[in-house]
Amino acid sequence: MNLFDLTGKVAVVSGGAQGLGQATALALAHSGADVMLIDRNLDGANATADDIRRLGRKASTSNCNVSDPDAIAELFLQVDREFGRVDFLGNIAGDGHLAKPEELEIADLHRVFQNLVVGRFAMCQQAGRRMLAQGRGSIMNIGSLASSTALGRGHIAYSMAMGAVIQMTRELSTEWSHRGVRVNAVTPAQVVNPSLAARMEQDPTLEGRFLKGIPAGRLGQPRDIMGLAVLLASDASEWITGAIIPMDGGNLAMNAGGTPGHAQATVQEFRAESDRSKS
Ligand SMILES: NC(=O)c1ccc[n+]([C@@H]2O[C@H](COP(=O)([O-])OP(=O)(O)OC[C@H]3O[C@@H](n4cnc5c(N)ncnc54)[C@H](O)[C@@H]3O)[C@@H](O)[C@H]2O)c1
Repeated sequence: MNLFDLTGKVAVVSGGAQGLGQATALALAHSGADVMLIDRNLDGANATADDIRRLGRKASTSNCNVSDPDAIAELFLQVDREFGRVDFLGNIAGDGHLAKPEELEIADLHRVFQNLVVGRFAMCQQAGRRMLAQGRGSIMNIGSLASSTALGRGHIAYSMAMGAVIQMTRELSTEWSHRGVRVNAVTPAQVVNPSLAARMEQDPTLEGRFLKGIPAGRLGQPRDIMGLAVLLASDASEWITGAIIPMDGGNLAMNAGGTPGHAQATVQEFRAESDRSKS
């Protein structure tokens, strides 16, 4: 008995060109799954697909924009044609937008919601319809530390959307799990990717502040999702549904929040600013 064997299963994974999506796709293929990779970076998705084929698994790619429900409907028709079933959805690709709450353009708020809330839901809906018809399937939505804790630093749109991803996960699990479809969410803390690396380069204090909130003593790496993805895709997690699973090096356990020290720094800046304006 191999509880983690994914042979014969088909996984649809968004964000497959790099980061958490690529690591998820490779981990699933290593455990035997065939994989449909989605990424607007088609060259990157194709490179991951080549790696998967070298493992002896089937892989296909699409540059579907996961903010666009019509494109997502088309994508799943491609999945039907090429794979004939869907056993697992890794709902991973997504973007935020940084702006102070008092300056955020409503159009940017809509864009983030279209991507992280409407897009993630449309992926769940298309995959879920097929899984319900099969009587079996598993969905892994990627949320964030920002799903349950405020980050500050201009993350208002992202946090509002990631909060919604968690409630979507709970609702879908409640509606679908008695029909064989499990829906869970993974909420990562800081995982190194190109945009995080750029922000840490811009602000050399940032990495140290993040680490104050991570008892495990290091930032996350994309590989950290590999075990969780295989667990959630496999029969080993048959009774796990509606769960919000932190992947955060212990951040949530100590209620550390997004950037320890941020609120104090903001108060100090505010006081300094008001002192300056008084003098
Ligand atoms: N890295 C972190 O610290 C962290 C923490 C919590 C949550 N997350 C979330 O996890 C997800 C993946 O993060 P990552 O670090 O792997 O990011 P990443 O930027 O390394 O990779 C994201 C991939 O998704 C693709 N993509 C983005 N928007 C797309 C769209 N609309 N359509 C198709 N493809 C699209 C990009 O081309 C890229 O290849 C994101 O939703 C992110 O918000 C990340």
